[in-house]
Order: sequence, then C-alpha cells, then structure tokens
Amino acid sequence: MITVIGSINMDIVVETNLFPKQGETVLGESFHTVPGGKGANQAVAAARLGAHVHMVGALGNDAFGQVLRNLLKVESVKDQFVETTSTATGIANIILFEQDNRIIVVPGANHDVTKESIDAAREQIAKSELVIMQLEIPQETVEYALDMCQELGVKVLLNPAPAENFKEEWMDRVAYFTPNETECADIFKDDVENALERYPNRLIVTLGADGARYYDGEKHVIVKGFKTVPKDTTGAGDTFNGAFAYALTTGVGITEAVKFANIAASLSVEKFGAQGGMPKVEAVQARLKEAR
Ligand code: RIB
Ligand code: NA
Repeated sequence: MITVIGSINMDIVVETNLFPKQGETVLGESFHTVPGGKGANQAVAAARLGAHVHMVGALGNDAFGQVLRNLLKVESVKDQFVETTSTATGIANIILFEQDNRIIVVPGANHDVTKESIDAAREQIAKSELVIMQLEIPQETVEYALDMCQELGVKVLLNPAPAENFKEEWMDRVAYFTPNETECADIFKDDVENALERYPNRLIVTLGADGARYYDGEKHVIVKGFKTVPKDTTGAGDTFNGAFAYALTTGVGITEAVKFANIAASLSVEKFGAQGGMPKVEAVQARLKEAR
C-alpha cells in the first residue's frame, strides 16, 4: 500500500505551432482539459500498475474539483483524505510547442494541504509501505509529513519538483530521492557526482529519455531508457516515480525498479496528457521483454 501526499491539478493544455510574441495573437492547434498535478499523476501511475494507493490532497468546491475526484475514483485511487476546500482547484496552464512543454501552475487548493491534513491521514500513513511526495504543496506540510514518516518508520520517496521548495537538510529523512538533472544541479549546486556518492542507493537522478543513474556504494550505475517517439512528455517523470514506487513495493532492487520505471515512462510519453499513456503492468512487462 502506497500513500501519495501531493498536488492535484486540472491541466489546461494548448497545442500550438506558433508561439505568440508579446502583444501578439496567434491561432493554436488544439485545446484539452486533462487530469494532472504531480501528486495525482504519481498516484495514478502506481494505481494503474496495480498498487493500492491512497491520496492525501485538496480540491476546490468547483467543477474541476468534482471531475478530478471522480477520475481518482475511476483509477481506484482512494480519495477519503482528499479534502474539498473553499479555494479554487489547482490548475496547470500547459503550452505544447515544438515537442516541448511550458507549464504555469496555479496551486489553488493544493495550498490547503496542511499539517492537519497529514494528521488526519496518520493511521493510513503508518500502514503504508511507502509514502510518495513532491513539492507542489506547502513546504511546511512536506516537512511535517517527513517528520511523521520518520517517527513512524515509514519510507519516503521524495520527488523534488519543483526543486526550489527543497531543503537539503531533508535528505536524512528520505529513502529515495528522484530529481531530474536540472533539479539535481539546482539542489546540489552542480556537484552531481559528489552528491550521488554521498547518497548511495538513495539519490536517483532521472535523465529523461536516457534513463536514470545512481551510485550503489561501489560504482555508478546508469540504467538506460527505452527509446521511443514521444507525443507528449508531460508527466513522464511522474510516471517514472509512480512506477518506481510500485516496483519497489513488489520487492525488487533499485536497478530492476528503475528499469521498470523507465519502460513505464517510455509508454506514457507515446500518448497525449500527463496521465494518458500511463501503462498497466502487462504493457510494461511486454516492453521489458522486448528491451532485454
Ligand atoms: O509533472 C507534470 C505535472 O506538473 C502536470 O500534470 C501539471 O499539473 C504540473 O503539476
Ligand atoms: Na502521456
């Protein structure tokens, strides 16, 4: 059983071939609203693979909130610790332009995930094999949850995105830490090699399509990614994290879990939307065979 403490957003996605200059209007290609938020994405990624997932979060008392709660239910993500508050549901304004994405997040109700929310979920957290967090909810809530997990002896996977909300003193409270290269450089001030060696089997740096790397205490390990043609890379990191967490709870080691997560992420980027393309376990296994 996994508990995800994190953000839930509605992603408001515009695809465009032209990027407007200041004061300019351009015509875009398409518009979609799809479920997102790093917390919800990682919860859905793990749940689709078969993990039992509880989510701790907050939604607004509005149309997006209702839709997002229903979608969590459809994905079998347990929502009893997802509060409804008087703040608007979080949104992410995503512009897909030239194979890349630009994202502006307005956290809204995600700011209402507080110490009280963590207290309310304490029993659930205590029963979890793993707690997953990101940094799209208040920093003090993350810190409070880290302390609680330490006290309860529950392992934490922390995905430090966005990295600006991370404090290095938290490193001793996390079992797995999964920044991408940019986040890693931000946090450890370009001292990536050193950081990897300081946190063996704990710091796993994701490399996008190239896979991920970590230090196992004796040597640096690079687990290559699976090359594919991406349609939309939004949520690839979230798929990696959810799948990595799921794989760890099945009892495999870090290398195997990273291999599995790389494959899951490669499948996810082939479909539109952060959660579109997040695979079921059979699809990952099939591609794992192909990759061997
Ligand atoms: O990691 C991708 C996610 O970041 C999007 O779904 C968006 O909501 C933002 O939180
Ligand atoms: Na996708």
